Amino acid sequence: MMKTMIQSVLGRRAMGVVMAGAVIATGFAFGVQPASAASEAHEPEAIDWSFNGPFGTYDKSQLRRGFKVFKEVCATCHSAHLLKFRNLAEEGGPAFSEAQVKVIAAEYTIEELNGDGDMEERPRLPKDPFPSPYANPEQAAAALGVAPPDLSVMAKAREGGPDYIHALLMGYQDPPEGREMAPGTHYNPYFPGGAIAMPAPLFADQVEYEDGTPTTLDQESQDVTAFLMWVAEPKLEQRHEMGFQVLIYLIALAGILYFATRKVWSDVH
Ligand code: HEC
Repeated sequence: MMKTMIQSVLGRRAMGVVMAGAVIATGFAFGVQPASAASEAHEPEAIDWSFNGPFGTYDKSQLRRGFKVFKEVCATCHSAHLLKFRNLAEEGGPAFSEAQVKVIAAEYTIEELNGDGDMEERPRLPKDPFPSPYANPEQAAAALGVAPPDLSVMAKAREGGPDYIHALLMGYQDPPEGREMAPGTHYNPYFPGGAIAMPAPLFADQVEYEDGTPTTLDQESQDVTAFLMWVAEPKLEQRHEMGFQVLIYLIALAGILYFATRKVWSDVH
């Protein structure tokens, strides 16, 4: 409808310019969707995430619930070093208040050099990063066999993205008949190879939600995955907005160029 309107006003040629510009702009603005899951592993279920598609936005309540799951469950093993406490109050995120962020940060401590050159422990501040549960990857690997990877960009790093993480969290099951599991590994057909060092981390009713949302395993998995997606891509909404601005700019520019060209040539004839 919109396309045919613009087309009749601008003519086919200008339309081509607009469309090419639009395609390039949307490509840049929305990013390319990651390809589907690895061939040997099970295909993760496609979830209808609120942040999917060019109009997608994060659901603030979901991000707050997801943060709770992350903080109480995942963060006992995993770091997310790119996450600063103050991010939790920033636009497009879980929208905690500045005061809430101060309280959350102060639940943790950090060691810092003081004026005398000694290490001193102080409560964390909003500017500090979310703490890592282990001093270093070696310590983490010693505890679990494999070091739990940092989760800062995990939702974008794995094939399948958030669908994969959700499926992985839900996917623990008994190994099929005759399958020998190496010590310290757990059967999960969504993990490439099927044997993962992470024990099933999440169960129904593992956290308490303040907003009354039922704490099914599916719900908790979706919430923490949405939270991890926000950590990996906090500027998604701004990027979508920018995409539309670029699009409108390109359409306007194409229009101006078209009429300017016509005017110039009509003077020549
Ligand atoms: C008991 C410690 C522990 C807890 C708790 C834990 N993890 Fe893990 N996680 C691990 C370990 C260890 C690995 C590495 C597994 C491997 O490579 O075999 C891992 C790997 C992962 C991976 C990467 C899988 C891949 O494709 O490489 C994701 C995603 C992940 N964890 C998400 C989570 C989430 C989300 C939570 C909270 C709901 C969580 N984990 C809780 C220990 C833990």
